[in-house]
This record gives sequence, C-alpha cells and structure tokens, in this order.
Amino acid sequence: MERTFLMVKPDGVQRNLIGKIVTRFEEKGFQLVGAKFIHVSENIAEQHYAEHKEKPFFTELVDFITSGPVFAMVWQGEGVIAKSRLMMGKTDPLEALPGTIRGDFGVVKHKNIIHGSDGRESAQREISLFFREEEIVEYNKLLDSWIY
Ligand code: PPS
Repeated sequence: MERTFLMVKPDGVQRNLIGKIVTRFEEKGFQLVGAKFIHVSENIAEQHYAEHKEKPFFTELVDFITSGPVFAMVWQGEGVIAKSRLMMGKTDPLEALPGTIRGDFGVVKHKNIIHGSDGRESAQREISLFFREEEIVEYNKLLDSWIY
C-alpha cells in the first residue's frame, strides 16, 4: 500500500490545527501508520529541503521549520501521495482552493500550514529521514473492508 510523509508545520501547531488536519485524512479513509511531535533539528531540516538549497528562501525555510515543534506523520492508502497533495492545496494559500487545508487556513506561502511529499521517491526519502522502520505501525482496521 502506498505511503506518504505529511507534516503539520510550526504555524499549524501554534494555531491548534493538528486535530483538524488529522481528521481530514482520517475521514477521507487514509490510515495513520506513524506520528511524532518533534522539534526538527537544523541538520534534518537542511536534508529535508536539500532540493531547495540554491533557492533564495532556503535559509528562511530552514529557520521556519526549526522555529517550533511540528507534527510529523506517515499516512497509508491507495493514491495517498497525489490525493493528499490535492487535499493540501497549492503551495501558495492565496491560490489554494477553498476546501483545501491551505485554502482554508493559510494566507502566505512561507506559512502554509502543512508539508506533503510530492512523489513516490520523495515520500520514501522523507519517511526514512523522519522515521525508523520500527516506528511505523502496520495494523488491520475493520473499517478497511468498507473503504476498499
Ligand atoms: S519551487 O521554487 O517552486 O520549487 O518552490 P515551492 O514548491 O514554491 O516551495 C518549496 C517549499 O518552500 C516553501 N517556500 C518558502 N518558504 C519560505 N519563504 C519563502 N519565500 C518560500 N517560498 C516557498 C514552500 O512552502 C515549500 O515548502 P513545503 O514544505 O515543501 O510545502
């Protein structure tokens, strides 16, 4: 089953949005298989955003994601990578549609509430950067037979 890495960023945590965000993915039918409330180190932040190293906003990006605790998660389900990106909405919350997380809760691009992997390769890389294999919990849900 496909997995993705999602993270409520420091602004989402400060604004008490963890529960609302988790609820959206639970209600959709995706399964939470890993979660941790952590303060991201500078080292992990730089690895996580390595592809943006040359961007003018790289320092700002690392400073922001390390500025307070985040809620890091692994979600599982059919098509979860692409669908969670749709549920998050466009990177710029002013362009994100109403009904999406960023469209409903965010205003500016550098405080856009949530991060989600953009493909299979980044999902795998980000999951293993934040989670050890034994921190991911495989379990059967009775509900699954009503979803699949
Ligand atoms: S790009 O250039 O299109 O690849 O970048 P983009 O996908 O728009 O954004 C990549 C991540 O950087 C965040 N971002 C910013 N952070 C701080 N300051 C500024 N100006 C800024 N612009 C973009 C953006 O929210 C993306 O973070 P993630 O965590 O991947 O959503």
